[in-house]
Amino acid sequence: MLKKIVIGNWKMNPVSLKDADKLFSSAAKSISKVRKTEIVICPPFIYLERLRKLSKKINLGAQDTFWGDVGAFTGEVSAEMLYNLGVKYTIVGHSERRALGEENIDINKKLKALLSARITPILCVGETSRDESHEYFNVVRTQIKECLSGINKNLISKIIIAYEPVWAISSTPNRRDATALDSREMSVFIRKVLSDIATPAIAKDTRVIYGGSVSERDAEEFLRYGGVDGVLSGRASLTAEKFVKIIKIAESI
Ligand code: 13P
Repeated sequence: MLKKIVIGNWKMNPVSLKDADKLFSSAAKSISKVRKTEIVICPPFIYLERLRKLSKKINLGAQDTFWGDVGAFTGEVSAEMLYNLGVKYTIVGHSERRALGEENIDINKKLKALLSARITPILCVGETSRDESHEYFNVVRTQIKECLSGINKNLISKIIIAYEPVWAISSTPNRRDATALDSREMSVFIRKVLSDIATPAIAKDTRVIYGGSVSERDAEEFLRYGGVDGVLSGRASLTAEKFVKIIKIAESI
């Protein structure tokens, strides 16, 4: 069985370093007994350096990177810079970035940059809506195939695939809840796509996680029955007690 992972994506929160410090420290102090579960927090870039000093138990992740390695790219942050700061994971292809114009071709270059910098990429995939003819499976297949294009098969299991149905994410207007069955069905499908791209063994070794409004109330359902190796939570990770509760649920399963 693959090690369970619980990831918090803070998105563009909180508004000050003081608040970031408080949120991170308060989660860190309640997880001293956690042994089996990998924990990651992805804060905004500007808090990474400070938070790195606060806990060894919580791994640091970034929410994005740029594909270039160094040079004239105003406003960007490279994978190597993140690595040098102690970042171990980085989210790419989040739907909130895709909505700003990021495409599979950009995500593919970012994945390659992260892998060369020895950072574990967390690749987000997921359809914006569901249709009766199940076209959404093709949407996710295309995302995975295009994002992984040209990546050495043996590196695929180093990538975490996060299934985030956009229609379930808290920032989506009129969102609705996804079920553990929705997650299970898609995680089986994602492994099938990985198996076609690489091999069944590589697909089996690749962590697939679920993200889409996971809270302390439904984390157990997703972790037990959703066919996934972990969860990626947004809003719930902004309240230390809720995030810690999700971690403890993962630890108990
Ligand atoms: P919410 O948990 O706020 O729905 O966010 C999910 C997400 O986008 C995590 O990356």
